[in-house]
Amino acid sequence: MTFNRTLKLLLAGAAVTLSASAAMAQTNLRVFISSQHRPDVWRKAFDMYEAKNPNVKVTIETGGNTSEAQAQYLNTVMTAKDSSLDVMILDVIRPAQYAAAGWTVPFNDVIGDVGAYMKRYLPAYAEANTVDGKVVALPAFADAMFLYYRKDLLEKHGVQPPQTWDELAAAAKKITEAEKDPNLQGLSFQGKAIEGAVCTFLLPYWSMGKQLVSDGKLSFDKDAAVKSLKLWKDFVDQGVAKKNIAEVATDDTRKEFQAGNVLFAVNWSYAWGQFQGAESAVKDKVGVVKLPSVKGGQPASCLGGWEWGVSAYSNNKTEAQKLVQYLSSPETSEFMAINAALLPQFPEVYTDPDVTKAVPWFASARPVVETAKARPVTPRYNEVSEIIRTTINGVLAGQATPEEGATQMEGRLRRVLR
Ligand code: GLC
Repeated sequence: MTFNRTLKLLLAGAAVTLSASAAMAQTNLRVFISSQHRPDVWRKAFDMYEAKNPNVKVTIETGGNTSEAQAQYLNTVMTAKDSSLDVMILDVIRPAQYAAAGWTVPFNDVIGDVGAYMKRYLPAYAEANTVDGKVVALPAFADAMFLYYRKDLLEKHGVQPPQTWDELAAAAKKITEAEKDPNLQGLSFQGKAIEGAVCTFLLPYWSMGKQLVSDGKLSFDKDAAVKSLKLWKDFVDQGVAKKNIAEVATDDTRKEFQAGNVLFAVNWSYAWGQFQGAESAVKDKVGVVKLPSVKGGQPASCLGGWEWGVSAYSNNKTEAQKLVQYLSSPETSEFMAINAALLPQFPEVYTDPDVTKAVPWFASARPVVETAKARPVTPRYNEVSEIIRTTINGVLAGQATPEEGATQMEGRLRRVLR
C-alpha cells in the first residue's frame, strides 16, 4: 500500500468517524415543568422521544407549586438571560406577556402552514398562543374548573349533584351533619392569594352574566362582585367550607379531597388522575360535573391550560422546537390524557376510544372547556390578578367585608384599567 493510499484511507476513516460523531453529537435539553402537573408522566413521554432521537437527552426541572410561584422563578431566569433552560411550560395567561418581553422564540418558521397548524387546536388555545401573527408557544394541555364530589356519599344520602351553589350548600350541610365525621369538609375551594383565586372570584361573577373587562376597559359590576365575595364567605360562615380556607391553594384542595376529607371540591382537571391513583383514599368514589351556577344564572368555568415555550436564551433552539412539536402533538396529548388525565388541546382526542375508556368523563368535559371563560387579556394582567386574589383572600380571612372588598377591588382595578 502506497503512502498516499494509506493516507487517503486514514483520512476517509477519520471523516467517517467524524461524521458519525457529528450525527451522534448529543443535545441536552432542560425542560421546566410545574410540579403539580405530573412530571412523572411527562418523563415517560420524554423517554419515548429519547428512544426515537438517541442524540437528545431531556432533563426535567420542576418548581413552584402554584402558577405565580413558577412565574416568579421563570421571571428571574429570563431576566438573567440564563441559557440553562431550553423549554418551559407556561400558564395560559402568560405566553403573550413572555412574547412581549422577548423571552420566547416564535414557531412560525418551523411549523409550515401556520393557519392550518394552529387550526388543529381548540380555538381558545390557538388564540392564546398567537400574538400579532406569531405563534409564541404551543399548547401542552387544556384545562378548566370542575366540581368533584364524593359519589359514594351522595348516593348513600340520596342526593343528586348540585346545579346551583345554594343546592350545594344544602347538600353539604345534610351530608356532613348525617356523617358526623369531624374531618369531613363540605366544600373545598381556593381561597389563598394565588392565581387560582382569581378564578374563584370570577366563577359566580361570570355566572351572573357579568364581564370584568370588555374591549380592554374595565366593566366592573359592583353588585355582582359583592355577591360573589359574599357567596364564598357565606360558605365559611355557615361551616360548609373550613375556617382557614384563606390558606388553601389548589393542591391543598386536591390532597384533602384525596385523603377522603372533602365532600365537594372545586378544582382543575389534573386532580382526577390523582384521585384515581393507587395512593388515593377515594379511588372509584369520585364524580365530576360542571360547576354549579348562581340561582337564575348560567354555569361558568374558568379557562386554564398550559403552553410550551422555547426560551430565547436557549443554545439549542432548533432541537427544543422539535421537542415541543412532539410534546404538543395529538399523540402526546392522547398519552397524557390516558396516563395523567390532562385535558386534550385537540377536539378529536376527547372522543378517542382509548381516552374515553381511561377517563370516561372527558366526553362531557369538552363542552365545559369550550365554553370556559378566559381571564381578562391585558398587558397589565399581573396587576389585575394581584388585586383580585389579594382582595378575595382578605375577605375570606375576615379582614374586609364583601362590600369593602368589592369597593377596594373596584378602586384598584380602575387605576390599572382605565
Ligand atoms: C390551573 C390552570 C391555570 C391556572 C391555575 C391557577 O393550573 O390550568 O390556567 O392559572 O390552575 O391556579
